[in-house]
Amino acid sequence: MDLAVALTPAALARDDLADRAVVVIDVLRAGTTIVTALANGARAVIPVAEEGEAGRYRATFDRDVSFIGGERDGKPLAGYDAGNSPAEYTEAAVAGRTVVLTTTNGTAALVHARGARRVAAGAFVNASALAGFLRQALDDGLGAVILCSGWRGAVSLEDTLCAGLLVDLVAGGASGLGDGAQIAYGLYRGAKSDLARALVAAEHTRRLVALGAADDVARCAQIDTTDTLPVFRDNQLVAAG
Ligand code: MLT
Repeated sequence: MDLAVALTPAALARDDLADRAVVVIDVLRAGTTIVTALANGARAVIPVAEEGEAGRYRATFDRDVSFIGGERDGKPLAGYDAGNSPAEYTEAAVAGRTVVLTTTNGTAALVHARGARRVAAGAFVNASALAGFLRQALDDGLGAVILCSGWRGAVSLEDTLCAGLLVDLVAGGASGLGDGAQIAYGLYRGAKSDLARALVAAEHTRRLVALGAADDVARCAQIDTTDTLPVFRDNQLVAAG
């Protein structure tokens, strides 16, 4: 089965994406936030890597129909409509609007992957929808990659756990798959009886708890709260179907 896990963006060569479908994972929190925004009626989410670029994008939209969110190192950015807590992306805040989002790792990973034939985004909250996207890609003869956003170039526990769940849902195990998939699946298999507890050990959980965002971690640990599937169309993420 042509299913791979890239544990960090650097593990996925950009020139190798033309025949591949990529699922970009950022459990804490950008993936969860993007899914939440689209589930709550946002028209689209535009992921951008740099703060300056986010401001320039926003300037192209009427203020009534745009919403700008973002963080660096988990902290909200001054002058933005919201930080990166999924709880801020309510129906009242985002329905009918285009969200421009810039985050430390998740939106950068999405920008990294956007040359792929197909791209979807998410986290635990839409795991089954992501697994369906990967299965469809494999059925259509594409290679499938699960890309973990990680943290500033390093591996992250929470994204690796989610990648392991997807490997389980799609392949039923990692036998015959590459090392990234075996590492992710092995981690997930050891932790699956209590994923919320496993997430407590993650570095970024500790960072978010210190910032007063423990509720976000609990929310991001939930599996399949929605079937919303964010997919790239013309450099914007929209809800599939
Ligand atoms: C990221 O993209 O690195 C994040 O989602 C960080 C966060 O806001 O928790």
